[in-house]
Amino acid sequence: MSENQNTSGSTEQGASSERRTFLKVAACGVGAAWAGMVGYPIYRYIASPVEEAASADVVTEVEVEKGAELPKNAALMFKFGTKPAMLIHHDDDTWSAFLAVCTHLGCTPAYQPEEKRIFCPCHSGVYDAHSGANVAGPPPKPLPQFKVAVADGKVVVSRA
Ligand code: FES
Repeated sequence: MSENQNTSGSTEQGASSERRTFLKVAACGVGAAWAGMVGYPIYRYIASPVEEAASADVVTEVEVEKGAELPKNAALMFKFGTKPAMLIHHDDDTWSAFLAVCTHLGCTPAYQPEEKRIFCPCHSGVYDAHSGANVAGPPPKPLPQFKVAVADGKVVVSRA
């Protein structure tokens, strides 16, 4: 009888030990998932400005998707690295591209085809659509300009 109890007791101990091991593994999994859910957004918040700056510096050239399809007197927004940029196809069949970050306080300006100018709606800043020169309003500097190469049905924008 005592032998049966020992056998049964050791079986229960074995099952109990397996349960404990399972619970430890499950707890580790839950802990890792929780750390990922909480830690990753914190990491992204802290790392984003550094990564963004690095990414913006690393990119030197971008092929603008569907850029060659852009009609005259129209603009197309695209990303140059992590920053917004603007490609303009002028009436005279020339092209311009600029970083679309206002030099005043960083809003995103837009091309206005009726006026043939780049306009920043935040404080009515105006830029020349060919050169990016700041021509009216509060922007203190021109928009940074890119080089544009159009060939073989592709539009490639690169750092000037
Ligand atoms: S942010 Fe563009 S004019 Fe002020």
